[in-house]
Amino acid sequence: MADRLYIFDTTLRDGEQSPGAAMTREEKIRIARQLERLGVDIIEAGFAAASPGDFESIRAIAEVIKDSTVCSLARANENDIRRAGEAIRPAASGRIHTFIATSPIHMEKKLRMSPDQVIEAAVRAVRLAREYTDDVEFSAEDALRSEPEFLCRVFDAVIQAGARTINVPDTVGYAIPELCGQFFRRLIEGTPNSDQVIWSAHCHNDLGMAVANSLAAVMAGARQVECTINGLGERAGNAALEEIVMAVKTRRDVFDLSLRIDTTQIVAASKLVSTVTSYPVQPNKAVVGANAFAHESGIHQDGVLKHRETYEIMRAEDVGWKANKLTLGKLSGRNAFRTRLKELGIELESEEALNLAFARFKELADKKSEIFDEDLHALVSAETSGTEREHYKFVSLSTRTETGELPYAEIVFADHGVERRSHSTGSGPVDATFKAIEAVVKSESELQLYSVNAITSGTDSQGDVTVRLARDGRIVNGQGADTDIIAASAKAYLSALSKLNSDEERAHPQV
Ligand code: KIV
Ligand code: ZN
Repeated sequence: MADRLYIFDTTLRDGEQSPGAAMTREEKIRIARQLERLGVDIIEAGFAAASPGDFESIRAIAEVIKDSTVCSLARANENDIRRAGEAIRPAASGRIHTFIATSPIHMEKKLRMSPDQVIEAAVRAVRLAREYTDDVEFSAEDALRSEPEFLCRVFDAVIQAGARTINVPDTVGYAIPELCGQFFRRLIEGTPNSDQVIWSAHCHNDLGMAVANSLAAVMAGARQVECTINGLGERAGNAALEEIVMAVKTRRDVFDLSLRIDTTQIVAASKLVSTVTSYPVQPNKAVVGANAFAHESGIHQDGVLKHRETYEIMRAEDVGWKANKLTLGKLSGRNAFRTRLKELGIELESEEALNLAFARFKELADKKSEIFDEDLHALVSAETSGTEREHYKFVSLSTRTETGELPYAEIVFADHGVERRSHSTGSGPVDATFKAIEAVVKSESELQLYSVNAITSGTDSQGDVTVRLARDGRIVNGQGADTDIIAASAKAYLSALSKLNSDEERAHPQV
């Protein structure tokens, strides 16, 4: 029988460390449910000690997820481990993932600890974590720039202390596939009792080799890969789950490993994460990009029609592309709406929230005849983020553009419950709208990103707008969806301003 490869998804933790990708508790639960449907073995639900909100999100996920292990990250200190242990307590299967840096540069410049002190802290952390769960993972941060002999000493000590999974992160995306494979072999051979633990790869994509490095580690004996949906993550991101899974499945001749993943759930997971985090998926992205299975050139189309495998190594339906079915329409009732939300893993907190979402659905169905799952996710995200922290709320907008004339916008929005009206001209209608909002709010923030994407295909699609604002070192993404892209832009801008006002302080685990 083929060996098992465990998939550890860290979209909700490392993925959330991407600028502005912070998610609400409801959004995290929704993603966790989709990861469970996808068949992910371990869901890293967050970093419990980061903030009370992060703690509560992990706990809520631990309460609802039954088929995947729920994990919290913890630095190698007592407070972090205890917070992680408490957060995962309700889980059917819970893991604590503790880590400390082991590279000379991190130990000396960041931790200001000697190598022996690092080993001591690691052992103490693993022992304490074992008081909460038998399932303890230890990571040596910046392992790929650490001395292999030192790593073997650290791993020997933490295995004796009770770690069951040993993770070897390429924290800064420095590795090269061939050398990464050699590095893993050396560690596995040089660590006593290495056959008693699962070896794990965690690769960042700074040089675009996260997936290749992870797969090289697998070839060398790693049996867990840490990855994220769409490769989301800090800087250039983490290894993309969909690419790892499809490489291992498609090249079974090379890997001969079994996976628990239901690949038909991949596209739904990709779209959900993209909608919730406002990180669009590039069209030419492997597996989940809109063009991944589109055969543009006539020669390719001809080949595929004659025999699919001439140009296709995977089937679109196997990763869930054809499952994007028409969901609801104008005549769908409240019950059908509630049932489809349930199937998508969305449970609104109250009847009132359901009524509000249903009213918005009806408004949308009046403008757009076909409503898809992506529309529902966008609608619910707007509804729940709005109710949680609605400092600024869109009311109405009127714009005027004419060739040769200066574009003009007049907007009405609620500012902490008080209705405001403002107008401005600008270089385009979006610019005029943002200037009109700023004339009232005076946020002193910097606009870092403005992007518009169509949620579904067709000219009646909703525009999905992302606005990234930065102020005093804090970065937030606001999102707005509407069939009118200027209105979507105004909603996104107001949503970003609301987040800027209310996001709680959270600690970053790796500074
Ligand atoms: O990249 C990294 O080193 C990490 C660790 C916390 C596992 O994310
Ligand atoms: Zn990482």
